[in-house]
Amino acid sequence: SIPVQSPAASAGATKKKMNGYVGFSNYPNQEHRRSVKRGFNFTLMVVGESGLGKSTLVNTLFESKVYPTKDSDDGAAGHTGTSSGEAGSRAVEITSVSADILENGVKLRLSVVDTPGFGDSINNEDSWRPVLENIESRFDAYLAQENRVNRSKIVDNRVNALLYFIKPTGHALRAIDIEFMKHLHTRVNLIPVIAKADTLTPREVELFKARILADINYHGIHTFKPVSDQYDDPETVADNKTIAAKIPFAVIGSEKLVRRADGQMVRGRQYPWGVIEVENEAHNDFVSLRQMLLRTHMEELRDETDVSLYESYRTQKLLALGHVQDNSVFREFNPRMQQEEEERLHAAKMSKLEAEMSAVFRQKVQEKEGKLKQSEEELYSRHQQMKSVLEKQRRDLDEKRTRLAQPDVVHTHSSAHPEHAQRMPSKDKKKR
Ligand code: GTP
Repeated sequence: SIPVQSPAASAGATKKKMNGYVGFSNYPNQEHRRSVKRGFNFTLMVVGESGLGKSTLVNTLFESKVYPTKDSDDGAAGHTGTSSGEAGSRAVEITSVSADILENGVKLRLSVVDTPGFGDSINNEDSWRPVLENIESRFDAYLAQENRVNRSKIVDNRVNALLYFIKPTGHALRAIDIEFMKHLHTRVNLIPVIAKADTLTPREVELFKARILADINYHGIHTFKPVSDQYDDPETVADNKTIAAKIPFAVIGSEKLVRRADGQMVRGRQYPWGVIEVENEAHNDFVSLRQMLLRTHMEELRDETDVSLYESYRTQKLLALGHVQDNSVFREFNPRMQQEEEERLHAAKMSKLEAEMSAVFRQKVQEKEGKLKQSEEELYSRHQQMKSVLEKQRRDLDEKRTRLAQPDVVHTHSSAHPEHAQRMPSKDKKKR
């Protein structure tokens, strides 16, 4: 075949036309078969206060009893949990449940990481910390395996997505929500959901979403959103926009089937006035969340974890250890890392400015203190001077008094007569 240089080819790359079938176009199919055989790993973390319906939603999403819920007496599939802290204590624990789910011959190894105790303390200031530590320790474990000589069996337990359950207060985000998201958004694909959305009216949901988004924007929090790239077809672009517009997803979960007015059994929640259906898009955003998480963006979530979140953690870690790494390759196609880099530079600039300002401040304070000290010393010496003058005056006076108190002077002449008083000393002198 004759190589044909395409004018549109980017620097260093040439487009070559094939004359016959070579076979590598079958690669996606090979890759597909390999992936199907091996199965997929997906780690989902759920965070939110107790009773917000986390377990119920996970079970509803995967249509299986992945997780034990309060309502049920059924156990979970394969509890591989590790937990720290005593049962019943208020410390945040991290537990993990794994389940193999099979759908149309495709195996999904799902791990759900739960954080019981989150937000349940009296002081929830640091609730985010154990969660962040857990996510970072999973990165560390992966990094340690990457650095091994034999990398054939890397176990990937990195968290691919985090569902953050927002309490359906209908007001705005609370301090605990903001703190959590601020500390976690650069380490995990954050997906905020409004829990138990059936407890709010549609209008309340709408207003609540607007306030949540305003808070998220104000605090510069990055949440995961489906983005369309130039290769996506118009339909996909439209679908992604529809899903992105629903964030934060207002969801309801239910493991029960209930009877609708038309007699059909549906997954939903029964109310005296009717049924709220889980899978009805007019009732809540469950369908969009499931669509994004499991049907259209699971691979993107895994990719984002690997290429962006993990890489930036790894780079920071290595830099902290003194390794210098060329990140230019990442920067080229990784806007998130670029943004982080810019934020880091900005923070460094600000702290330099702050240091300079505080140095100037310190200098001014020192000058002022010096001046004060000087004037204090001046005052002190003036005081000493005055004191010695006064003391001298007192001594003189004392002397005078003793002289005047001598009997011949005091009793013989009256001091009322200045003439006498003046004359007396000369007389005294003569006597001596
Ligand atoms: P912890 O395990 O304590 O952290 O609670 P959790 O967040 O996992 O909540 P769980 O799923 O156990 O649900 C708590 C209660 O809320 C149960 O009685 C559920 O039936 C109920 N519940 C779950 N989802 C919803 C929902 O979408 N709407 C309403 N109204 N109730 C729900």
